[in-house]
Amino acid sequence: MDAQKPGPQRRPLVVANWKLNGSRRSNQALLEALVAGWKAQSGSAEVAICPPFIYLPQAAELLEKSEFYLGGQNLSQYSEGAYTGEVSGKMLAETGCRYVIIGHSERRQLFNETDELVAEKFAAALSHGLTPILCVGESLEECDGGHTLAVVGRQLGVVIDKVGLEAFARAVVAYEPVWAIGTGRHATPADAQRVHAYIRERLGVQGETIQVLYGGSVKPDNAPELFAMADIDGGLIGGASLKSEDFLAICRAAG
Ligand code: 13P
Repeated sequence: MDAQKPGPQRRPLVVANWKLNGSRRSNQALLEALVAGWKAQSGSAEVAICPPFIYLPQAAELLEKSEFYLGGQNLSQYSEGAYTGEVSGKMLAETGCRYVIIGHSERRQLFNETDELVAEKFAAALSHGLTPILCVGESLEECDGGHTLAVVGRQLGVVIDKVGLEAFARAVVAYEPVWAIGTGRHATPADAQRVHAYIRERLGVQGETIQVLYGGSVKPDNAPELFAMADIDGGLIGGASLKSEDFLAICRAAG
C-alpha cells in the first residue's frame, strides 16, 4: 500500500495543547506572535489553541480577529450542578471554544479517567456542540508487548458503544503513544501510519473523512515526515506549541 499522500481530501489540523503552562503575560506574547506569524505565512491548515481553562477568555479576546480556533483541555461529564471544581461543555462553548481534548493520557493516567468516563465526556462535548478531540494511545509496555492496536481498538470501542459511529462525523481522533509524550522519542512515520490506518478502519465510513492527528514529541524537524503520511492529518502538539517559531513551523508543515 502506498502510504504517501495524496489521499482523500481532509483539511490539515494542528492543535496546541499548552497543558499546565502559561501566564497572562507569556500567553499574550505567544498568541500575538502566532497570529502575526500565521498571517504572514498564510497557511491552509486549521489551527486550534487549548490553553488552561482560566486563560480561555484572555485567549478568546486575543484570537478574536484571527483564524485560530479555541479549545479546552478537558471538560466535565456533567452540564451543571453540585460538582465543585468542574467546568462544563456549556461553559466552554459559551467562552468561544470549538474543540475540547478528551481522554488525554495524562488525564487517564494521573487523574484516573477510565474508558467509560472518557466516553461520557465525549458524549457531553457533542451535546454542547463542541468537537471532541479523542486521544488514544498505548503505554510503553503495551507497545513492547505488541498490543498497540488492541489498546487503541478498545479505547475507541468504548466510545463507539456509547455514542455510535455516526457521532464521529463531528469529532477528531488523536493518536498519542504514551511513551512518545514529552520524551523526545516519536513514533516512526510508518508505525504511526499503521495505527492511523487502523483507526480509520475501525471507524468505518466515518474513518474516510475524520481528521486523525498524531501527537507525541512532534517538533519542526520531524513534523514534515509525519504529516506526509497518507492517514496523518496533522498534530496534537505539547512542548513545541509553547514556542511560537516551533509551533508556526509545525503548522507550516501541515499545510
Ligand atoms: P509533547 O508534544 O510535549 O510530546 O506532548 C504531546 C501531547 O501530549 C499533546 O497532547
